[in-house]
Amino acid sequence: MSGQRKLKQVWTVGRLLEKSRGYLEDKGVEGARLSVELLLSHALGCERIQLYTSFEQPVPELVVARFRELVKLRAEQVPVGYLTGKAYFYSLEFSVNPDVLIPRPETELLVEQMINICRTSHFANPGILEIGTGSGCVAIALAKNLPHAEVVATDISGSALAVAKDNAQKHKLGERIRFVQGDLFEALSEEGKRPGGFDFIVSNPPYISPEEIPDLPREVREYEPRVALLGRDEALAVHRRIVDGAEGYLAERGKLLMELGHEQAQAARGLLEQSGYLSEVRTVRDLQGHERVVIGEKKA
Ligand SMILES: C[S@@+](CC[C@H](N)C(=O)[O-])C[C@H]1O[C@@H](n2cnc3c(N)ncnc32)[C@H](O)[C@@H]1O
Repeated sequence: MSGQRKLKQVWTVGRLLEKSRGYLEDKGVEGARLSVELLLSHALGCERIQLYTSFEQPVPELVVARFRELVKLRAEQVPVGYLTGKAYFYSLEFSVNPDVLIPRPETELLVEQMINICRTSHFANPGILEIGTGSGCVAIALAKNLPHAEVVATDISGSALAVAKDNAQKHKLGERIRFVQGDLFEALSEEGKRPGGFDFIVSNPPYISPEEIPDLPREVREYEPRVALLGRDEALAVHRRIVDGAEGYLAERGKLLMELGHEQAQAARGLLEQSGYLSEVRTVRDLQGHERVVIGEKKA
């Protein structure tokens, strides 16, 4: 060097965001801008919105190093939720890890429908069974918004239930939701059956067929739990088993609500209509216009 001391690069919030966004875009990461904002606010321990008023702020070296590690992992398509350990659903924060599906915005429709039906039907203490609770996001959002509901949530995965229980504790709903492990209705022992049946059975079951797996985005295909995605031999296999089993657990006029994937509405309506015990079968469209939720009511 020519006697001059090389100036150390100072990374400001704005420069870090800009550079890393470009890097992730080059790597073909979807939603690069949102990713870097979530990762930097996580590394800094601040709210994402605070970044917008801190563009000129220098970022401490240790935080820069931590952030770079996270960005590298994101470039490998690791979902942001697994990197920050957090996801948002129905305006609530949930802890997530690779044992659970990251809650999806489209699943909010299932919760919204349940809450609307519950409020307009004036149930005093609606009994709700959620099958396949994962992070617990659906059961917890329901318990939070329906303070008199009695909620039971099941999952076949013990490690997913551990995450769901932890989330329920964080939202101070540990006493209001009973979590049980098992394959669909097998999770409920005789004493777990609600006298008179459940007023609602709700589920976002796995609905991807084995043939669709190679076409999924890498961040879903490689990182999210297969048990949360894959409907065994056919996309609607779990829906079919839920329809078959729900009759013995639903109250008279009780409702079954299930989330669907694209282009599954016709087949799903058929499943409910042919059950012999469900009527008033209908689907509800999401904001993109896809028939996302199927609903049926047990005949009186
Ligand atoms: C699509 S994820 C939904 C998770 C969460 N309810 C949500 O909406 O984000 C499906 C969940 O069903 C669970 N699951 C899969 N097969 C099951 C079965 N046979 N019995 C009970 N749960 C099952 C998975 O472990 C997973 O947590």
